[in-house]
Amino acid sequence: MALVTTKEMFEKAYRGGYAIGAFNINNMEIIQGVVAAAKAQNSAVILQVSKSALKYAHPLYLKKMVDAAIEETGLDIALHLDHGPSFEVCKDCISYGFTSVMYDGSHLDYEENVRTTREVVEYAHARGVVVEAELGKLAGVEDDVKVSAEGATYTDPDQAVDFVKRTGVDSLAIAIGTSHGAYKFKGEAKLDFDRLETITKKLEEAGFHHFPIVLHGASSVDESSVATCNQYGGQINGAKGVPAEMLRKAASMAVCKINMDTDIRLAMTAAIRKEFAENPSAFDPRGYLGAGRDLIASLVEGKIRDVVGSTNSMD
Ligand code: G3H
Ligand code: 13P
Ligand code: ZN
Repeated sequence: MALVTTKEMFEKAYRGGYAIGAFNINNMEIIQGVVAAAKAQNSAVILQVSKSALKYAHPLYLKKMVDAAIEETGLDIALHLDHGPSFEVCKDCISYGFTSVMYDGSHLDYEENVRTTREVVEYAHARGVVVEAELGKLAGVEDDVKVSAEGATYTDPDQAVDFVKRTGVDSLAIAIGTSHGAYKFKGEAKLDFDRLETITKKLEEAGFHHFPIVLHGASSVDESSVATCNQYGGQINGAKGVPAEMLRKAASMAVCKINMDTDIRLAMTAAIRKEFAENPSAFDPRGYLGAGRDLIASLVEGKIRDVVGSTNSMD
């Protein structure tokens, strides 16, 4: 049991043909829901925090709650900065004890992305922290950055090899058709698995054996959560996520980390809407937040068992 980096998790996951789920956290109920699920599945897990989550909850609160979760569950957990917008924010999270940071320079010019990622890597590695970076642009909304479907660009395989060589990153997030948020595909869901295969092959040829790839924007936008939200007054129309089979396929390939946030938000909202509608006279937050926590726990258990496949990865 420990607060760990993702290094060993990814090595085991790559060899075992599964991935580790990375779930976004903002508050105690989400943390407890996710770790209860991981505990039930005897699985390692990554808890990740975005810039807006840092602002909402404060890194110190999140770090202390994650420490408590580790102590309570006995699990190996990595605490990761999701979409770090700058070197400064990465440094800040490292100083609070995060074990993994993402520096997201995907919106920058290539050479600038290489330069800053390299700086973050040197700083983080000197402190025993691992670094994820991103190449290519995902469509969708993350923090205050919005990228249209037309503005998205898939990761170039040769550039990916050059980037890994020159930056020394520990894992790489790639763009192969996923996007952030609840509206991922207008028509049929489609991911560019050939591109993932080519990136993996070229990395292997360049000497990066079992190099971990990260898939962002990997919520399935579960129909049951959306239906419950809409049944109890929500208006979430036309939402569509990544089918579970595609995520399982990615996990069996080089993808070692699968990011999910939207599905957690939808589950929390569905449970709270239902609770409010069914108990209009209740006003104890533990009632509805507890219902949200329970639904997150069952959702995440399903993701660990049936989607990323990391059950018993603690063994
Ligand atoms: O990638 C984006 C994550 O879903 C985090 O979203 O910045 O609204 O916390 P957020
Ligand atoms: P979703 O919006 O698909 O949950 O993606 C979350 C994510 O990639 C966080 O970095
Ligand atoms: Zn993301």
